[in-house]
Amino acid sequence: MSTTHEAGWAHASGALRGPSWLRPPSDPDALVPHLWSQTAHKVDGELHVGGLSVSELVANVNTPAYVLDEVDFRARAGAFRDAFAGYDVFYAGKAFLCTTVARWVQEEGLSLDVCSDGELTVALRAGFDPARIGYHGNNKTVTELRRAVAAGIGRIVLDSFDEIDRLAMVTAETGTTARVMVRVTAGVEAHTHEYIATAHEDQKFGFSITSGDALEAVRRVLDAPGIDLLGLHSHIGSQIFDSSGFEVAARRVLALQARISTELGVVLPEMDLGGGFGIAYTTQDDPSDPAQLATEMSKIVEHECRGLGIPEPRLSIEPGRAIVGPAMCTVYTVGTVKPVELDGGAVRTYVSVDGGMSDNIRTALYDADYSCTLASRTSDAPPVLARVVGKHCEAGDVVVKDEFLPGDVAPGDLLAVPGTGAYCRSMASNYNHALRPPVVAVRDGVARVVVRRETVEDLLATDMGDQ
Ligand code: LLP
Repeated sequence: MSTTHEAGWAHASGALRGPSWLRPPSDPDALVPHLWSQTAHKVDGELHVGGLSVSELVANVNTPAYVLDEVDFRARAGAFRDAFAGYDVFYAGKAFLCTTVARWVQEEGLSLDVCSDGELTVALRAGFDPARIGYHGNNKTVTELRRAVAAGIGRIVLDSFDEIDRLAMVTAETGTTARVMVRVTAGVEAHTHEYIATAHEDQKFGFSITSGDALEAVRRVLDAPGIDLLGLHSHIGSQIFDSSGFEVAARRVLALQARISTELGVVLPEMDLGGGFGIAYTTQDDPSDPAQLATEMSKIVEHECRGLGIPEPRLSIEPGRAIVGPAMCTVYTVGTVKPVELDGGAVRTYVSVDGGMSDNIRTALYDADYSCTLASRTSDAPPVLARVVGKHCEAGDVVVKDEFLPGDVAPGDLLAVPGTGAYCRSMASNYNHALRPPVVAVRDGVARVVVRRETVEDLLATDMGDQ
């Protein structure tokens, strides 16, 4: 049964002061540095990225557009590579992948994690060395496994007993040996949104350590001909700030590693602790840098291995968001500005932009917080509490729930939302037949469209009634 009542979103979000962490900017012409990519700054109120002003950028590609700061991406990839020297760093392509980015990842000396045939296709098209690709997924088909094996993928992460049998069949067919990891569930409740936590027991990924399935999976993999077990894999979730989750996971996975060595007589040479390192979307977020993460994680693993009396495995990690997230921002054009009077007379300013949940579903899906700035000009107008919304046909089509914007924000202004590199373009949809926006890479004053805007022809290409 459904009921209706008078209050909606606005009511539910409480007072119009906005959330407690949100403050009006002291200088609207300044950016909060840790939310933006390295080369982003304002000149007379106008956002510049990669040596180009935002108006120069959108003059060629129009809005909405994702702007990818190449220098920033490479710097973050390089920071992980250097901080985790001696580890293998796999960039998680699910956060954002195109052939150009796959090439940057390879040039920066990282490996690549893919989790679908589509991502694998992009990686191979980019010329990525298959031996440095890891293949994830909880339901890989025989066809996908055949393709991965034929391509010589470096490691396949196995996630179910069905998959072990399937892979054994594929390697028997082809007379090859596949190198694998076994994904285990460490029983950790990561402090993140429920949909992106992956190491508690009641979810679809991995083999439970507690139930004994993980040990059984290892036993079966060791018995299977044509499968070479590299080690255990654990990924506890995404957008995590607190290293205690990784600590608990590492402890449990290493305890299993020790059991495997005593009970099965096998020393597994590798171990993967997954990705999930959080980034700053708003001023309330305070992420660790790669050097801190590396120190903490190495210390945990070293300490546990010493205690268990087992050799330290070669470690790998899989950051996605922490590399590409802050490297991109989305630029929108304001279409309408609507002050809406709420109960008690307070006013919320709804600013509609030319994109929305089709280019950033994260606000609607995970209740994610974002920030934004007026990107095309300066303004002295006193700030108003604004909600930046898209142009889709539902009220939950919100891009930025709460932000202070200059009170004279008007149609034609450009707004930029930082931190949209991860899981925005990669989760974009054609809802309401929106055309998915381009990704424009910028560097040293040069802009390069690395993913073009979709066209009406793209939309109609799958519509067979149009033939
Ligand atoms: N490794 C594995 C096995 C994963 O499943 C993931 C993310 C990663 C690495 C990379 O995690 P990252 O470092 O990017 O947090 N769409 C959600 C996030 C889903 C994450 C899925 N797996 C979001 O927008 O927050």
